Formats: sequence, C-alpha cells, structure tokens
Amino acid sequence: MKNIYLNIIKFNKISLSKTVKYLQKNHIVGLPTETVYGLAGNAYSRSAIKKIYSLKKRPKFNPLIIHYYNLAASYRDIEVNKNFLSLYEKLCPGPITFILKKKDSSKITSLATSGLKTIAIRFPNNRTIKRIMKKLDFPLAIPSANMSSGISPVDALDVAEEFNMKLKLIINGGRSKFGLESTVVDLTGKPKILRPGAISAEKISKILKKKVVINNSKIKIKAPGSLKKHYSPGIPIKLNQTKIIKNQAFITFGKKFKEQKNIFNLSKNSNLNEAAKNLYKIFRKIKKLKYKKINIIRIPRRGIGIAINDRIKHAAN
Ligand code: TXA
Ligand code: MG
Repeated sequence: MKNIYLNIIKFNKISLSKTVKYLQKNHIVGLPTETVYGLAGNAYSRSAIKKIYSLKKRPKFNPLIIHYYNLAASYRDIEVNKNFLSLYEKLCPGPITFILKKKDSSKITSLATSGLKTIAIRFPNNRTIKRIMKKLDFPLAIPSANMSSGISPVDALDVAEEFNMKLKLIINGGRSKFGLESTVVDLTGKPKILRPGAISAEKISKILKKKVVINNSKIKIKAPGSLKKHYSPGIPIKLNQTKIIKNQAFITFGKKFKEQKNIFNLSKNSNLNEAAKNLYKIFRKIKKLKYKKINIIRIPRRGIGIAINDRIKHAAN
C-alpha cells in the first residue's frame, strides 16, 4: 500500500536522534514492537502520559505497561521476586508482561499506573525500539497504538490510520513479528495469566515448575484491559461457524474453504503463528470493505491459538 502519511518515517541515524529528542520533550511517538505497534511516552512525565490517554480516548482506570531496555533499568521501579527473575532469565526480552509490586520510591507517574500499587512491566524484543530505549534515561509507557477498545496496529500504516496527523512521528519498523499483544502474567501472588499471548501458560509453568492458572473469572478488576469489549473491529462477530453466508465476511483457517471475495484465510497452512500475525490485518481489511457481519471458523485451542481465541471472543462481545 502506498504511504501517503508524512509522519511515517524510516528508521535510521537521523530519525533515531529525532525520536529520542521528541520523547525527551515528552511528545508521543508511534513505535514498533515485536507484538504490536505502540504509542510511546516518557513514563516519568505526567504531561506525556496525559497525552497518551487523550489520544487513545482510554479510560484513566486502565493502566499502561511500562517498557524497559533491560533488567537493571527496571530495578528503581519494581519489587523484584524470584518468579520474576526466573521468567526474565528465560523469556526476556520477549512478548511477556509482568505485574509486580511498584516501589514506593518509583518516579513513574501514578497516572500511568492508574494509582495502583502494582505495575505492569515489559522488555520488548525489537531492534528498532531497543536502539531508541538504549539512548533514554527514562522508561516508556506504551499501550497499543489504537483507539481504546479497537484493533491493535501491526504496522506503521495501521498506526497512521488510527491517529492521522495527530501523531507527529511514527517509526516504520516493518510488520510486527507476532501480531498479538504480549502475555500478561500477574506475579504479585500465585502466578496467574491475565491475558494470554505468544508465551503460553505451559511454558511459564515449566519454567516456574508450578501450576499457572489462566484468569477466567468474570470479575476482572485486576486486568482492567481485559474488560469485556476489546480488540474489536466494531462489527458483530460469530464464533465457531461452519457456513459461508452471502454478503457476510467469513474468516477461515486451513484448507477447508477456498479463497473467495468474502472469505479471508488466517493461514492456509493451518499455522497458528501465521494466523496470529494475520488476525488484526484481516479485521481491518473486513472493516474497510464495510461488511456488516463477520463469521469465524473454529480456531484450534493450542499454543498461540489460545490467545487468538481470547482476542476473537473479546472482539465478539
Ligand atoms: O504487547 C503489548 O503488551 C503491547 C505493546 C505495545 O507493548 N502493549 C499493550 O498495551 O498491549 P495495552 O495498554 O494495550 O494493554 C495493557 C494491558 C491492559 O489490559 C491493562 O489493563 C493491563 O495491561 N495492565 C496494566 N497495568 C496493570 C496492572 N497493574 N495490573 C493488571 N493489569 C494491568
Ligand atoms: Mg491495547
């Protein structure tokens, strides 16, 4: 697709120093990560965080994830525990977010953590964002770069379409590797998955050598972002469908249905990683084509398929 957005910029030495300057001045920048694209701002600055909430029209009670370059950088803000260190060693940098106790002395603005005593932290594994973060002496608050409750962006153009010229700078880092948001694991008590992602509960269980539950309870105060409607293209969605209906979009997986005008395939090769990477792109495409209904075939509930099912379920709400 042609880039008509002048605020999308290639990553090089010049844009690196421009990005660093912008962030130091508490402006907001669209940045790539390995999961989805995010809106980045100085986590120590109340004015920067205010801009993020207002751009996204995000409710103030929904806290942001604080992103760090490495473990040492995170120490001033978190209470470290054993489970966290074990998972960090095996999985970071990578697509996982940890909920930990926030240090009383932390300088993170309480606006970013919605006044909670806990903090969500993540160490993104993307060359571009790592080179930017290395030059900063503050962590970045980075929610997904979409309007609140909408579909997360997986490339720079998606970000531009969400915010147009309201963002002065979006760094183009190509397509996000995973295409789904990070796994969120609460480590403030017994380890609990609040949001499934590319890193599975089994993998976390194996590293910690203990059972890790997926939080399925209806009361989801702990993860405000897992509020019912989320990740939504704003079109009615039906899950576990088997029939193609004329004039309605059908999202399929595997070889069962051939490509047609209203059939969109997540992965012809039944590859769940590929499906995860394509899900939000296909939602966006269907929305642009102005379909009024989406039907989705059953997606296998294993590996990253669990996260795909989670996002589809939320989108359908
Ligand atoms: O992959 C990702 O995590 C992306 C990229 C950009 O890093 N970011 C992302 O951020 O998905 P966001 O803001 O779209 O989702 C953050 C989630 C929300 O569900 C929020 O409620 C939850 O993390 N969260 C943040 N702080 C929390 C806390 N202290 N306790 C429980 N949940 C928290
Ligand atoms: Mg989000």
